[in-house]
Amino acid sequence: MLGRLNHVAIVVPDLKAGIAIYRDMLGARVSEPRAEPDHGVTVVFVELPNTKVELLEPLGEDSPVKGFLERNPAGGIHHLCYEVADIIAARDRLIAAGARVLGGGEPRIGAHGKPVLFLHPKDFAGTLVELEEV
Ligand code: CO
Repeated sequence: MLGRLNHVAIVVPDLKAGIAIYRDMLGARVSEPRAEPDHGVTVVFVELPNTKVELLEPLGEDSPVKGFLERNPAGGIHHLCYEVADIIAARDRLIAAGARVLGGGEPRIGAHGKPVLFLHPKDFAGTLVELEEV
């Protein structure tokens, strides 16, 4: 069911500092910051040969990553995103297997303009998992 690792998302308290780590210290290609008000984050993409790392900085008072940053003030890995060919089939299979799909189980349009779902970390080895249909 799972395809490629689409991205690893890291929440950072300071996007400029996060960019400096990846661009200047690690020598990666990093995109320009992009505000995503609908998703409550400002994001940059770290382009790697085999996948992407997304650095997310909270945007606005209702940012969904604000609580994460309160629990992890230095930042940290927030979720992994795996590609699937058919997100409804993937969802139905996981629900049948007893997994919890967040947000009522209906796919939303994610930051890349494609349908996404998030899966409960307690059902996936302590990791928040995003599925993206590609
Ligand atoms: Co993501």
